Amino acid sequence: MKITFLGHASLLIEVEKATILVDPFISGNEKASGKIDIKGLNPDYILVTHAHQDHILDVEAIAKAAGAIVVSNFEIATHYEAKGIKAHPMNHGGQWQFDFGTLKYVHAIHTSSFPDGSYGGQPGGFILTTQDKTIYIAGDTALTMDMKLIPLSADLDLAVLPIGDNFTMGINDAVLAADFIGCDNILGYHYDTFGYIEIDHAAAINAFEKAGKKLHLLDIGATLTI
Ligand code: NI
Ligand code: MN
Repeated sequence: MKITFLGHASLLIEVEKATILVDPFISGNEKASGKIDIKGLNPDYILVTHAHQDHILDVEAIAKAAGAIVVSNFEIATHYEAKGIKAHPMNHGGQWQFDFGTLKYVHAIHTSSFPDGSYGGQPGGFILTTQDKTIYIAGDTALTMDMKLIPLSADLDLAVLPIGDNFTMGINDAVLAADFIGCDNILGYHYDTFGYIEIDHAAAINAFEKAGKKLHLLDIGATLTI
């Protein structure tokens, strides 16, 4: 499984049978827009954790250009279906077998309005299981006790956790989250994009190291293979 960081909370995940884009916010992210060409992404699926602008900005354009299927909660899926985009609706606790593997939509503690204020359902995260790897994409979330449910059904090879604080977990809570989910291999996201979420990279890596865990911080456009 290849995971490319596209800036902020945007990921491109390449698995054997599909290319999966997560929460595309690229054209409006000045740190990413010069480095990532959204026309070249060409995903088969777009996972959307919640309806905030910094997670959906490029969904419509990319989905229409690539013919991608949007996978999200019921409200977000319905929103894109009304625009003529194919979508697969899910809700918390549910999982579905896709052609590339299994997705489960899990709890996140956050909010989920669309930019115009309309209802974007409840925010979530995804557990993606393919033939050989299982990863957890937390979405925007606080540390939550529900994370302790994840290792009961998933043996994670990697977890993608927000670490930027202010709008989501910060570093210390993310270290605790890594314990809750039973995963020592963490990819950080949702940091440095704007002033509220700037972090000290060395301190973040050190905090995970002290807890016996590995924190990956990727440059925009860089790829992690697991
Ligand atoms: Ni958000
Ligand atoms: Mn966000």
